[in-house]
Amino acid sequence: MAPRKIIIDTDPGQDDAVAILLALASPEEVEVLGITAVAGNVPLALTEKNARIVCELAGRPETRVFAGCDKPLTRTLVTAEHVHGKTGLDGPQMADPTMPLQDQHGVDFIIETLRAEPAGTVTLCPLGPLTNIALAFQRAPELVEKVQEIVLMGGAYFEVGNITPAAEFNIYVDPEAAKIVFDAGVPIVVMPLDVTHKALTTRPRVDAFRAMGTKVGEMVAAWTDFFERFDKEKYGSEGAPLHDPCVIAYLIRPELFSGRHVNVEIETSSELTLGMTVADWWRVTNRPANALFMGDMDAEGFFALLAERLARL
Ligand code: BDR
Ligand code: CA
Repeated sequence: MAPRKIIIDTDPGQDDAVAILLALASPEEVEVLGITAVAGNVPLALTEKNARIVCELAGRPETRVFAGCDKPLTRTLVTAEHVHGKTGLDGPQMADPTMPLQDQHGVDFIIETLRAEPAGTVTLCPLGPLTNIALAFQRAPELVEKVQEIVLMGGAYFEVGNITPAAEFNIYVDPEAAKIVFDAGVPIVVMPLDVTHKALTTRPRVDAFRAMGTKVGEMVAAWTDFFERFDKEKYGSEGAPLHDPCVIAYLIRPELFSGRHVNVEIETSSELTLGMTVADWWRVTNRPANALFMGDMDAEGFFALLAERLARL
């Protein structure tokens, strides 16, 4: 089968970085048409730079990286340096990238690509706040139906929240954008915290990255060592969740994940629960299903896939 054409929309972020590496290491299953950066974990100037650092690390400097929106649709940007460090990719020392940033705005790239490609052949993979995707849908609503699928990391049901008691970071940062995307009528697959909190970087898993004996293995181990400290201290967990690579892993091995087709609504007005993903997991309403909301994953299979693919780079 031909590889699936994808656009990765991202705010690297160590876990975003691993997701990008996984995609670039998997050309049989995915063809990365471009990477659009968005403001999220850190401001845009850093996320677009980090995306280029990661492409160079993967040995793929020809990958096109675009800068998208530098702030949410209507709100002030909230960032997560407390998790990812000042640069967003804190951990190992890294040189500035030499590959260029594309001149075109990320949102224009998304629009132009959807316009140019046959209907139903482009999958969008958002790994950060949904600002770029929502703006593309607002500007070119006629292109929404051309999207094959959106596979995104965001939200939570049983795990509830990680940036507020009620909300997951990516949705919380731009809830208005999330609402536009969830209301768009595109097939959506959601990797919420319920799943990603099972993708934990335990010591043997990090050691396996390091044991690859490659620069990529060393970097991934150093990144995870860095951002683990936050989750270990805060949640007392064994390691840190590799949230965003779950999106790419789903495109490669969907059978690693299971979930339910349910209705998901986004809270945009309540101060207390802003950005909450109200997933009708128990189907207690008649609201139509608009997303495949994942609930479980095979973490061993996921880390085996990561190790196999990252070793190629
Ligand atoms: C999400 O927020 C970011 O900090 C991570 O990169 C991930 O996309 C997890 O809530
Ligand atoms: Ca992210």
